[in-house]
Amino acid sequence: MKRGLRSRLTQYGDEDFALFLRRGFLKSAGFTDDALDRPIVGVLSTASDFNPCHATAGHLAETVARGVRLAGALPFVFPTISLHEAFSFPTSMLLRNLMAMDVEEMVRALPLDAVVLIGGCDKTIPAELMGAVSADMPAIVLPVGSMLAGRHEGTRLGACTDCRRLWAAYRAGSLDEANLNRAHDQLMPTSGTCMVMGTASTMACLAETLGFTLPGAATAPAVSSDRMRIAEATGKRAAEMAIKGGPCPRDILTPTALRNASVVLQAISGSTNAIVHLAAIAGRAGLSYDLAELDRVGRDTPVLLNLKPAGSHFMEDFHAGGGLPGLLRRLAALLDLSASTVSGETLGDVVARWPTYLDDEVIRPLDRPVFPGEAIAMLSGSLAPQGAAIKLAAATKALFKFEGPAVVFESLDDLAKRIDDPDLPVTPGHCMVLRNAGPVGAPGMPEAGALPIPKKLGSKGITDMVRISDARMSGTAFGTVVLHVTPEASAGGPLALVRDGDVIKLDATARRLDLLVDEAELERRRTQWSPPEKPARGYTKLYVEHVTQADKGCDFDFLAGS
Ligand code: FES
Repeated sequence: MKRGLRSRLTQYGDEDFALFLRRGFLKSAGFTDDALDRPIVGVLSTASDFNPCHATAGHLAETVARGVRLAGALPFVFPTISLHEAFSFPTSMLLRNLMAMDVEEMVRALPLDAVVLIGGCDKTIPAELMGAVSADMPAIVLPVGSMLAGRHEGTRLGACTDCRRLWAAYRAGSLDEANLNRAHDQLMPTSGTCMVMGTASTMACLAETLGFTLPGAATAPAVSSDRMRIAEATGKRAAEMAIKGGPCPRDILTPTALRNASVVLQAISGSTNAIVHLAAIAGRAGLSYDLAELDRVGRDTPVLLNLKPAGSHFMEDFHAGGGLPGLLRRLAALLDLSASTVSGETLGDVVARWPTYLDDEVIRPLDRPVFPGEAIAMLSGSLAPQGAAIKLAAATKALFKFEGPAVVFESLDDLAKRIDDPDLPVTPGHCMVLRNAGPVGAPGMPEAGALPIPKKLGSKGITDMVRISDARMSGTAFGTVVLHVTPEASAGGPLALVRDGDVIKLDATARRLDLLVDEAELERRRTQWSPPEKPARGYTKLYVEHVTQADKGCDFDFLAGS
């Protein structure tokens, strides 16, 4: 196989001329022949002024490049799309597949022998892994790392769990604007990804569990020297992978690795978004992510990690308290530590050599968990024939079993218009249903599933209600929120047929979600239903025509498999 600059030559019908031209352009930048004969490591940088979570990505790329050179290879830094949660209209999830295509096609097109994928903000690591698994070139992930925790008037603050808590208090009138504004300056005090167990932290931890990072890479803060040392070591390891020609992503991504990821997802009380991303990443290797197994392993795996929103600490505490290898040691009996990693070691090798210190308050022992039950449960029933998810660790136990009438919102616009209407016919005994917010419906399945508590109830001290939708929820959010109802309403799922006042029964313990309306009436409603109009052009048209449902990862149907 051709390596380095000799690989993937531009097609002019004359390979020697193509190489002559390619080397000539690089000579214009002052490269010597010695440099141009080295193996090449691509360093995918997601630096962007629109992505404050990745403010350090440029510096990380330079540090990775130093490691690549130290190991005798030649680094090339290149850009791809960069997605930030707060700068992606209408939702970053709509663009995740576009970024995954960008990653895959650039990794396939450029003359790389290995690639370092720098990512972090929620959709970036999933998109990078999806693209890398499809391209199946030697690849290693480097998360940008998390922010340090904020401090405000004696309290430690974490984005975005405390953003939501403070905003809810402000909406309910228990926090004034001046106090809200003072806290605002401290919510995101450094660059890096959200420092609670949101989607970014979850996906960094799962990338490390799957074996796609060097040990410790999930947890080192963005602004720490540990992060820079890991970046240099990542560059060195990528150079070795470029020289040896492996391992490739499909050597690492196995059913065993995915099962380990499910155990860790439960033990860290990770974001429910990870379910969708793991399904998409697995699908790229022709594997199916086993949602029943995720539910099953959860029954044996308590929440051990004491991080917000399920607990009280932050990513920097997790790092200092033993990091992900420390957690894997605690979970050893539940994991298959023979799984391999990009470092060339198995997870077991990493655990065996990792420092023995563990902070028992942050990484709890199995007999003193943060939450004794499973963090995430998968539901099914007449309202969700292909499944739905609920984060039990973020829900109110008294609502695990619920039966009550629905208040239905047709869309995100309808929700925004009516949620605070004083005449909204809603009581704490209702459940709120949001539809047409799924992969096709929104489109892009936004993080709108944690519907706000109507002002008229919030101001009376109601902090949680059962909420059901085909949307997703931020990993930093909390509440008794049923998500990912599949099939979604816009694909003709039963969610499309619910009417105000219909009784819905949730039994999270029995894993059931049912619409208590008889089948003849549902059939009558089904005949009146028609699918929503599709976008006329562009990427959004491609998206709604090809996106799969949540249980398959919301990937494009034509990108799954080999
Ligand atoms: Fe980027 Fe939270 S917004 S990680």
